Amino acid sequence: MKNLKAAILAAIIFYCACPRAAAQAPLYKDPKASPAERAADLLGRMTAEEKFGQLQQLDGLWEGDYRKEHLELAREGRLGSTLNVRFAANVNILQKEAVEHSRLGIPLLFAFDVIHGYRTIFPVPLGESAQWDPELAGKAASAAAEEAYSVGLKWTFAPMVDIARDPRWGRIVEGSGEDPYLGSRLAAARVRGFQGADFSAPGKLLACAKHWVGYGAAEAGRDYNSTNISRSALRNVYFPPFKAALDAGAATFMSAFNDLNGVPSTANKAAIAGTLRGDWGFKGFVVSDYTSVKELIAHGLAADEEDAAVKALSAGVDMEMVSTLYRDKGPAALSAGRLSLPVLDASVLRVLEMKFRAGIFEKPYIDPALETKKLLTPKTRKLALEAALKSLVLLRNTGGLLPLGPGLKKIAVVGALADSKTDMLGSWSADGKPADAVTLLEGVRETVSPGTEVVYSSGCSPSAGTDEELAKAVAAASEADVIIAAVGEEASMSGEASSRAFLSLPGRQLELLERLKKTGRPVVAVLFNGRPLELSWLDANIPAILEAWYPGTEGGRAVAQTLFGRSNPGGKLPVTFPLTLGQVPIYYAHRSTGRPPSAAEKYSSKYTDSPVEPLYPFGYGLSYSSFTYSGLSVTPAKIKADGKAIVKVAVTNSSSRSGDEIAQLYIRDAAGSETRPVRELKGFKRVTLSPGETKTLEFELGPAELGYYYEDGFAVEPGLFGVYASGSSEGGLEARLEVMP
Ligand code: GLC
Repeated sequence: MKNLKAAILAAIIFYCACPRAAAQAPLYKDPKASPAERAADLLGRMTAEEKFGQLQQLDGLWEGDYRKEHLELAREGRLGSTLNVRFAANVNILQKEAVEHSRLGIPLLFAFDVIHGYRTIFPVPLGESAQWDPELAGKAASAAAEEAYSVGLKWTFAPMVDIARDPRWGRIVEGSGEDPYLGSRLAAARVRGFQGADFSAPGKLLACAKHWVGYGAAEAGRDYNSTNISRSALRNVYFPPFKAALDAGAATFMSAFNDLNGVPSTANKAAIAGTLRGDWGFKGFVVSDYTSVKELIAHGLAADEEDAAVKALSAGVDMEMVSTLYRDKGPAALSAGRLSLPVLDASVLRVLEMKFRAGIFEKPYIDPALETKKLLTPKTRKLALEAALKSLVLLRNTGGLLPLGPGLKKIAVVGALADSKTDMLGSWSADGKPADAVTLLEGVRETVSPGTEVVYSSGCSPSAGTDEELAKAVAAASEADVIIAAVGEEASMSGEASSRAFLSLPGRQLELLERLKKTGRPVVAVLFNGRPLELSWLDANIPAILEAWYPGTEGGRAVAQTLFGRSNPGGKLPVTFPLTLGQVPIYYAHRSTGRPPSAAEKYSSKYTDSPVEPLYPFGYGLSYSSFTYSGLSVTPAKIKADGKAIVKVAVTNSSSRSGDEIAQLYIRDAAGSETRPVRELKGFKRVTLSPGETKTLEFELGPAELGYYYEDGFAVEPGLFGVYASGSSEGGLEARLEVMP
């Protein structure tokens, strides 16, 4: 508040000292003044109605047009932002009402869900996370920003940084998986990709770290469900990717739908005003999720609409997305003293200051010519292909079936997903056009040797398949040299409001695979899916399995090039694949328990009817190459709590083929004030090694890696640490590090 007073005072002094200036444009229109001074000056000129207007975001039409009522609201200064309105024709008309026909001329902020590409679609975020390549993720975000900016957008609701450890949750597809360290590195990279060094620049967008906070911990994996998260888990697991996004300069945050320990995130003052603004000093603004302010009534937190508006605004949710309680109920609450003016003003200031920093007062309009130049260029397609190639995870390759050789006479491609352009794009595919996408079938056809015949038969899709179609596919496959079977989920089976109570391959796909196996022809399974699935039958019966997620516009081409050896898969899993749903939630960074699972000990933490181990662990992924680790060292082996140790490990490509390996560094804090996970990722490097080549990789372990939050705060506690270097979260080389008291 004192900054507000200082800024207003500065504005008054400035104008008292320069009467001529006072007669000219008001301070807020002076680009030489600071965003804070301009915002303070503007705030002082606004009516209560205009203030509530700035806190209102409304939804346009999905096709990109504004709604008729938006024009009048913009003209009256009662609209601050829209989502889904895009394309120069729409943006410039609506913006003109706000800028040239309203009393104060405050421009609108145009937002859209640009999650993994705008028109050129990159792998879904979970697939992108399997690249373990923050630099590449940043490039994809930057390319997406440039495309989105060209159609008049200035704000994206991304990156989604929710940690997810329950594959039933449909939105696991949209984040970076189960690990806070990997999630943090990717969150920061994506924010920097969207925003660049200065998000007011052309081609850059305001990022939005979402969903604050704990949304991914939805009970039973059911979307929008309640969450109960301990203080320790919040601070050590769910917060870190948001803190990384904030440290990378995220301009905005989005409050989540979930009830967080009894207080919905969209009215959770401790999380927003306390942690985000108080502890972390976040200066941007917070937008609610879609009608999440109004949903406070359904949650049972708010008694009525006014109560919901007051609780959300007072908790620090600055802008209301789509529901209109701030606008409708705010003025009365303000007059009655149920909403404090400083609370309202603080929110309006944060929104105004961000608009000044976004540069939209000086550049409110978009050049219509840009759209034609920036969308789906050869350059963005090339980047999308690279992103897709690096997102692929080889889960199984028994007998070296892959890569497929050039001498094949006949290849059968089976499964409707192999011929689906829509499903290559995945959920949240913005203005990606299925027609732009390359399917697996198209990719195979363009990649095989000229003499190879490619036959296709749908067999079945994840949601449909007749006896005839299945029989036809089996017949076609039974004469092929190799069968490529595309199985998994339709894109609509994951994403928002798409939680599943089962993790099996939907529909008749397993039946199809069983019948394909019976033909005796070698089968390669390609998975298109948005979550870990139950794959134990495949793992036991299908010699080669490639995880492709939803690989984007260039997806089918990337998969085909990998199957035929033009590219060597090097991705690793960003999330655990359970053996069975009954193990969920299952994740590698679990605590030890007092009775760790033991085959020899009945009275230990295990099941009577299933192993406790996952099918594929976090960090797992094969390659056409093979790699060995040697020479793990930790120097010095003893450090003070504020000291640092250097970890070195040599990785060798022991095969005859160049390939990528993602070397991972884990620690285990053996004993502390709170129990710590049996392993925690604290470093990784994706390296390309030529045949026989060895690279010695170096990692640093210091307070940021060795410390954790416990009841008394953040600390590196004295004691022994295990240090592990491996190609997954299991096994590898082990060393010791001791933190001295
Ligand atoms: C949705 C999602 C959020 C998205 C917003 C706008 O409900 O929860 O991630 O950004 O609404 O589309």
